Amino acid sequence: MEAVQNNEAAPRKRVFSAIKPTGNPTLGNYVGAMKYWGGMADEYDCLYAVADLHAITVNIEPKELRENSKRLFALLIAIGIDPDRNVLFMQSHVSAHAELGWLLNNYTMFGEARRMTQFKEKSKKAPDNINVGLFDYPVLMAADILLYQADIVPVGDDQMQHVELCRTIAQRFNNKYSPTFKMPEGRVPKSGARIYSLADPTAKMGKSDGDGSGSVFILDKPEDIMRKFKRAVTDCDSKIKASKDKPGITNLLNIYASLCGITVAAAEKEFENSDYAAFKTRVGEAAAETLRPIREKYEALRRDDVALAELMKAGAERASRIAHRTLEKVYKKIGFVRV
Ligand code: TYM
Repeated sequence: MEAVQNNEAAPRKRVFSAIKPTGNPTLGNYVGAMKYWGGMADEYDCLYAVADLHAITVNIEPKELRENSKRLFALLIAIGIDPDRNVLFMQSHVSAHAELGWLLNNYTMFGEARRMTQFKEKSKKAPDNINVGLFDYPVLMAADILLYQADIVPVGDDQMQHVELCRTIAQRFNNKYSPTFKMPEGRVPKSGARIYSLADPTAKMGKSDGDGSGSVFILDKPEDIMRKFKRAVTDCDSKIKASKDKPGITNLLNIYASLCGITVAAAEKEFENSDYAAFKTRVGEAAAETLRPIREKYEALRRDDVALAELMKAGAERASRIAHRTLEKVYKKIGFVRV
């Protein structure tokens, strides 16, 4: 991969991950996944995509899809993904994703796709829009990963089941033909793999949830971040300890530990003698301090959409070269005539 240095003796492992441009990116997306993406370029060859093809599996207006996609692309740079050291691109700009997605449908069992938790949850949430794309979603995700022969897929906890299905599909294909795809490994962070809503600490913090009081958005202003944390639902106890019966406090401890790069045990120790109000304020401050420079960098990037479009084009060209190599191999193995 020409994007990054080449070490002949020990080839660098490859990383792939992506994020959908639906709703407004949250602190959950950041802590569970995006936070780690920028730094991985030191050790790995990394590719990251805005998964816009995945976004239309839910109802989304054209204007919203367009704006969300540009916003997310700029935000990925703002969180630390340097487009010179990583391959950063829009999924729909590389046609190989849709093509391999179709091919892999034929090596995915209906029963396997039907078992996906996210399909079941999303079907329940929008019973009037249980479309085939929503069902097929993890197969397209498998195509995203396998096209780049990724070794590592850094994701939050909720995507692990999809990465597992990707491995099943890859294994089936490799067994039927011959080794074609690398076996990818999903990787979740130690703390923060699943961040919950501040308004309902039993529900995942999501990009499009309710009135937004439970979700902290990466681009929120500091005063909004502080307000949301101060109102975070906790319990009637006063101990700052992580446990199953204290989901609100556990969630806040996880967020704090992840933002500060410490363990949950160290966070508990730090707040041993604090009350809930002081604790919530401190977690809010940690989030606001982390997100402020990201928002500022994002705003600067958004002042020049022409430059962003150029970066998108360059990223897609680099991704396409790698993706088409895999796709061509797959077509040939299945028996398509190539001329
Ligand atoms: P998406 O857009 O829902 O989320 C992007 C990343 O953020 C993580 N995440 C969370 N982590 C912790 N707590 C939360 N509350 C939380 N909410 C989201 C997700 O686990 C994810 O890592 N299908 C993917 C996008 C995708 C993809 C791929 C990922 C498309 N193709 C190939 C990896 C590889 C998705 O919808 O993520």
